[in-house]
Amino acid sequence: MDVQIYQYDAVIVGAGLAGLAAARELTAAGKKTAVITKLHPLRSHSGAAQGGINAALGEGDSVELHEFDTVKGSDYLADQDCVELLCGKAPETIRWAERMGAVFSRDEKGDIAIRPFGGQSKPRACYAKDRTGLTLLQTIYEQADRAGIEVFDEWYAGDILYKDGKVSGVAAFNIRDMQPAVFNAKAVMFATGGYGRAFKINSNAHANTGDALSIVARHGLPLEDMEFVQFHPSGLGGSGILISEAARGEGGRLFNSEGERFMEKYAPNAMELASRDVVARAITKEVLEGRGIGPEKDGVWIDLTHLDPEIILTKLPELRELAITFLGQDMLKEPIMIAATAHYSMGGIPVDINCHVKKSPDELVEGFYAAGECSCVSVHGANRLGANSVLEALLFGRHAGESILRDIDNIKLREATTEDAQAMLDEVNWVLTNNGTERVHALREELQQSMTDNAGVFRTAKSLNKQTAIIKKLIKRYENIRIDDKSKTYNTELQEAIELKHMLEFSLFIVEGGLAREESRGAHFREDFPTRDDEKFMKHTYAYMDKEYNITQEYADVVQGKFEPQERTY
Ligand code: FUM
Repeated sequence: MDVQIYQYDAVIVGAGLAGLAAARELTAAGKKTAVITKLHPLRSHSGAAQGGINAALGEGDSVELHEFDTVKGSDYLADQDCVELLCGKAPETIRWAERMGAVFSRDEKGDIAIRPFGGQSKPRACYAKDRTGLTLLQTIYEQADRAGIEVFDEWYAGDILYKDGKVSGVAAFNIRDMQPAVFNAKAVMFATGGYGRAFKINSNAHANTGDALSIVARHGLPLEDMEFVQFHPSGLGGSGILISEAARGEGGRLFNSEGERFMEKYAPNAMELASRDVVARAITKEVLEGRGIGPEKDGVWIDLTHLDPEIILTKLPELRELAITFLGQDMLKEPIMIAATAHYSMGGIPVDINCHVKKSPDELVEGFYAAGECSCVSVHGANRLGANSVLEALLFGRHAGESILRDIDNIKLREATTEDAQAMLDEVNWVLTNNGTERVHALREELQQSMTDNAGVFRTAKSLNKQTAIIKKLIKRYENIRIDDKSKTYNTELQEAIELKHMLEFSLFIVEGGLAREESRGAHFREDFPTRDDEKFMKHTYAYMDKEYNITQEYADVVQGKFEPQERTY
């Protein structure tokens, strides 16, 4: 098939909250904008966010307290200028979402209801029952559609057009029939979400395979702070499906097999509402020390039976249904089984405060932007607070749109040719015709299991070295894959093969970053270096991959501000 060439002012890859918010801004301002997504926008993973979106709206709360909690939660690795932007604009972002049509739950006075979340000194998570992300996604999609965005859904973006420090488009193919195309544009934005699928137990959608990370890294561009992967304390036992922190926010209590409310040992003040990394480690430690529950003794109980049933029925209906459907456990009548689950990635494509992608700590790529979970701005540092990611996606998505609008008239379009799709087409062709003996699903399962075992909640030099060797071997074995489906119609086997290669590549960044960071900070916990080392590692990691999959790293300063690093206790 001939390669089609499309021209747009801006092309956005990803149709979750960040991508759609940016697309809406651009289209409403008259810029011809295409959104490419391998799903349908309404199936984007933003829709799975359950518990809330933070803004300092409650009595006694303030933007400064929100900032402090975010910086402390980040274990002081967040860039404080970006945190000020995030927290300062949060109340306006909620009002904007309301004006767009989002219906938030209300309190008795009729104000937007807020609930407590972990690591926060005041209740500040605004919510729509336990379907906050879905409510916002539907709203922003409607508004972006109304503004006239053009969506290329079920299209797979396989490469960027990158030359001489400038991005001028995206190469993609239509999943329905493999029609290839080049989307030529002055501005390209990545908003492709997270990459938790590298781990066996995770709360992420099947689509969260981190394609953008590896696409960027293959061009020699850096990834930032990839070692910081968040493990959410409450994934449903066995599967890791998210059981929102709202369950603890509304009063849920954690118990081990001995009936002990074990958070008393780990966070005597905040208890179940300590920061996520603290609670996830406590749960995992209980399990590792033999006090787990369930057939494999690999979970703990969360008990909500002491709550007024009305709270569960009106505020947590989705969580109740999930536990009934997947575990046969009804939280109205009995505790349900949970365990830590890979949930969110603090690291990603490095961007400055205005969402420009960086080529190095001090240089920007022209015409290239990123926002949301695939990016690292860095507002979450080493550990994100619950309900700050929906906020980040919406706020920085809009902000990226505004940033593109400011820049776009000064960007000269570099005309694309059909040749610009060649690298992507070569990869597709190789996967279709390679005639080896290895199966994609088997390699993927080995990657996921080994990442959970060796680069999970607790890490050591030994486990991380072992994991590097495993990934390198899997990359070698990948050269010998074979897929059975050679067709050009909805070839999901082909797509999964391409995705697996991406997962293998960015997993190397997670592991090597973790190996080099000989300290424990936020979600990155080294049993062999159990304390934080500000002298050596109050730094962001910038890592680069060469053609032989060697990772090299350099470090960049953290933007400090009004909050001095302190010991972090809850
Ligand atoms: O627990 C939750 O509802 C997840 C929220 C988040 O990751 O921000």
